[in-house]
Amino acid sequence: MSVQKEVKRVTTHVLAEMKLHGEKISMLTSYDYSMAKLVDQAGIDVILVGDSASNVMAGNETTLPITLDQMIYHGKSVVRGVTRALVVVDMPFGTYQGNSLEALNSAIKIMKITHADAVKLEGGKEVIESVERIIMAGIPVMGHLGLMPQSIHKYGTYTVRAKEEVEAKKLIEDAHFLEQAGCFAIVLEKIPAKLGAQVAHELKIPVIGIGAGGGVDGQVLVIHDMLGLTQEFSPRFLRRYLNLAADIKGAVGSFVADVKSRNFPNEKEQYE
Ligand code: KIV
Repeated sequence: MSVQKEVKRVTTHVLAEMKLHGEKISMLTSYDYSMAKLVDQAGIDVILVGDSASNVMAGNETTLPITLDQMIYHGKSVVRGVTRALVVVDMPFGTYQGNSLEALNSAIKIMKITHADAVKLEGGKEVIESVERIIMAGIPVMGHLGLMPQSIHKYGTYTVRAKEEVEAKKLIEDAHFLEQAGCFAIVLEKIPAKLGAQVAHELKIPVIGIGAGGGVDGQVLVIHDMLGLTQEFSPRFLRRYLNLAADIKGAVGSFVADVKSRNFPNEKEQYE
């Protein structure tokens, strides 16, 4: 029996049940109403309004510039298109690291205005006070460890994380901290598959990976990457299910040619 097929609405409780039954969790990002509606209708379990919007929607090099109000705009648009999936909104850089009260206020603003189901933030022990305070206010929190794009300037590269024992040990400790603090799930980004499997085995909460191997409880990808809208980004973990960039360029090229050649509109495509 499939846990998620039985439910009308995916909740954090449903995700816990899925892990319990060994049923893998699917998660994709979305940033707007139309895409979120399609992704939801296709049966995704979780939609992440990722701060990757900073890269794929706004064209920034990093996730750092996106603001709380911009994330709220994306979150609100996504929630309007979703009837079934759990919607998680990323807390952007600078809205939760300062102190736990600021973190709580940012999370409350996201939940109040977007009507999303949960928030996600990056970090382990160093943000645990913020995580606890947000959860105490009744807001579900998803953690994020491994490659943490908001800390790119600290690490200087987007290469695989936690390959060395010290970093792997810290990641495992942080994952336990997040679970104890009450996170309902954790994202692990770009770490060795063996480490991903170990964390998923040790934690009771679902562990969702992006480049963390097949031994975790679920998989997440950025929708622009898996649909082939982004072309320059080709990490090993990415599977492209479409080549939309080529399709869009082809379609636009045909439109341009049809307009220039007066082939569009034809007689049926105009009013009497
Ligand atoms: O912002 C995002 O899209 C993410 C995913 C890569 C997990 O955090």
